[in-house]
Amino acid sequence: MRRLVRETRLDPAQFILPLFVCPGEGIKREIGSMPDNYQMSVDQVVKECAEVQSLGIGGVILFGLPEAKDEAASGAYGEDGIVQTALRAIRRETPKLLIVTDVCNCEYTSHGHCGFVKDGDVDNDTTLQWLAKTALSHARAGADIVAPSDMMDGRVGAIRQTLDANGFEKTAILAYAAKFASVFYGPFREAAESTPQFGDRRSYQMDPANGREAMKEIAFDLEEGADMIMVKPALPYLDLICQARERFDVPIAAYQVSGEYSMIMAAVRNGWLEYERAMMETLTSITRAGAGIILTYFSKPAARLLG
Ligand code: PBG
Repeated sequence: MRRLVRETRLDPAQFILPLFVCPGEGIKREIGSMPDNYQMSVDQVVKECAEVQSLGIGGVILFGLPEAKDEAASGAYGEDGIVQTALRAIRRETPKLLIVTDVCNCEYTSHGHCGFVKDGDVDNDTTLQWLAKTALSHARAGADIVAPSDMMDGRVGAIRQTLDANGFEKTAILAYAAKFASVFYGPFREAAESTPQFGDRRSYQMDPANGREAMKEIAFDLEEGADMIMVKPALPYLDLICQARERFDVPIAAYQVSGEYSMIMAAVRNGWLEYERAMMETLTSITRAGAGIILTYFSKPAARLLG
């Protein structure tokens, strides 16, 4: 009876698995702070994607670790960049798998900031041109959805315009709309080697104290043409997922970020929490709050458990 009256059900189709692509061949390097997650070369990512597809998982989101970083983030938008190369390879082997790409510069800039740095601060409008170029190169290489995570103002509009002008009207935009300057991205920055070399991201990411501002950011991104929006991180911001669900009739995603994952894994490894229950309870809560899509490092084990 408990099963019969359950209000919230999970489905592997709602999960998106983040993957970190690195140069080389045959490389699968575990990320210290994120057990069971790896930096993988393109050939390994292709294999991983086949498994993701066979588990019925909704899709993957790709993050790139470029061969070299520079001031102009040139690795982000080059036709032969790491993400573009991975996209073409995955498309070849698993043509039906949904592929999302993270559109940002912090993995590609020598200073680790998400945009062009002028006089010690990120220059919003120059960064928009980089982001639009990156999104277009991802679309060309086969991305179904581009997901800008930089938090520059006006980036959804800039990306939409560039995609449409180049014949990619069908490429969707998932906007990291309400993205907070959060401590919980710590392990990701180890995974993606994207820690800022000076300062922090508070000039472009949101203050965790501001829920009303989050709704405003979401509204802006939708006006500019976002097809879906995201709240990030997930568990500390369930109230905002819930408010967004009530206010906006678009697909809502939540990102259960690296720190949320690592906290659970650390407790599990210490014998302080039960693995499966901790994983499923958090995913259920995020879904109950109103997120139809969850970006989560638990995608594979959760999908296996759901059968
Ligand atoms: C890039 C980006 C970050 C994450 C996703 N895209 C890091 C950041 O903003 O510093 C974090 C994801 C995670 O912690 O799992 N800007």
